[in-house]
Parts: sequence; structure tokens; C-alpha cells
Amino acid sequence: MINVAIDGHAGSGKSVLAKGIAERLKFRVLNTGALYRGMACAYRESGYKGVDNDKINEFIKDIKISVEFINDEQHVFVNGKDYTPHLREEEISVLSSEISPYQQLRNKVVDLQRDFAKNNNCVMEGRDIATNVLPDAQIKIFLTASAEKRAMRRYLEMKDKDNVTFEQILKDIKERDYRDEHRAVAPLVPAKDSVILDNGDLTVEGTIDKAIEIINKKLGRV
Ligand code: DC
Repeated sequence: MINVAIDGHAGSGKSVLAKGIAERLKFRVLNTGALYRGMACAYRESGYKGVDNDKINEFIKDIKISVEFINDEQHVFVNGKDYTPHLREEEISVLSSEISPYQQLRNKVVDLQRDFAKNNNCVMEGRDIATNVLPDAQIKIFLTASAEKRAMRRYLEMKDKDNVTFEQILKDIKERDYRDEHRAVAPLVPAKDSVILDNGDLTVEGTIDKAIEIINKKLGRV
């Protein structure tokens, strides 16, 4: 199987890039943030207050996570329940970032990811795909852009819907970068053999073109 691993900073456009590559190559995409979000939904529903090692141990004892593709959309199931409609809730964004540093929970998610990569030509995107989940992936891309560029993109997307300022978004992005890069477990760092792709001055299509070039070169297709 051919595996393309994409890691990168918050707001760098990993999901859009993964989807674009997968469409062109006819690969499957696995959005791994959605798996942590699914876990967070089940954790919330099980009624735990706060997050600590004992609560996470208790929670994951009988947890089974799976994905299914329904009309080409990734659905996340935890213990048979489809949590997909809730994955993007703000509360879930925060809770997923609180539970994702726990190694015992990550192990369950990583097992699913590795199994998926073994059975599918796929593009997998997240934070630790090249460094930890799929160290043998044939193609590894680390996607980034300056915090200012990423904040501006997000600001232009959100300014008509939410009462947000560019400064607030920039501050949030810098804080998330710091947390992602400095956590003890699976921190966000490029793998030694990742190709760094800075898309600060590229369009979405331009970024996909560049990634396809990298993939073709790695696979010896050029
Ligand atoms: O990419 P996202 O915002 O949907 O991810 C949700 C949370 O899951 C985020 O706080 C980081 C975490 N995550 C992770 O720890 N490892 C991954 N491979 C993907 C996401």
C-alpha cells in the first residue's frame, strides 16, 4: 500500500490538502483529528468531569473506535455510536486537545490508524503521522505557513460569522502551536525525512500541485 503522511500546524490546510491529493490519486483520506474528536464526544457523554490519568484509564477500558465511509464522508463510531454530527463543536475542540496527550488513549487511536494504512492506499493527516504512526510511510509532508498567514486565512473565513479579531485569532494560533510543539507525548515536529511544504504564498490548487510533485518524485514517477 502507498501511504502519504501529512503533519503540520493548526490552520495550515492539512485537511484540504489531504482531500485534494486523495481525489487526484484516488486514495482514501483518514482525518485523524476526527478520531480524537470522536473519543472526546464519548468521553463527554460518559459523564466524566475533568480529565486526569485515572479517568482516562477507566474510560478507555471498554472503548472501541472505528471509522466508516458513508457517501465518501468519514464517520467516526465509538462503541457503535456515530458521533460525526458533533465532531466540530467548540467544546469538543477543547476536550479533544485535553484528552489527546494521554498515551493510553492515543494507543487505541493509533492502532486504528495503522490498521487503516495497512489496508488502504491512503493520505493520513494529523500531528504525529510521519514521526510516530506511520514511520515507514513512503511520502511524508510537513505543511506549514507563518502564524500570521494562517491567522489571516482563518480570520477571512470567520469574520462574517463570528465576532472575532485578527489579533485574537493570531494569539490562539500561537498558543496552539506552542502546545502542539511542546507536549511530552507525540509533539508536532517534522520527521527527519519529511519534506517541508510552506504554503504561505500558495493557493489551495498550488499547494496540491506541489504535493503531487513531491509524491511523484518520491515514487520515482518523474
Ligand atoms: O486536527 P484537529 O484540530 O481536528 O485535532 C483535534 C485534536 O486532536 C487536536 O487538539 C490535536 C489532537 N490530535 C493529535 O493529538 N494527534 C493527531 N494525529 C491529530 C489530532
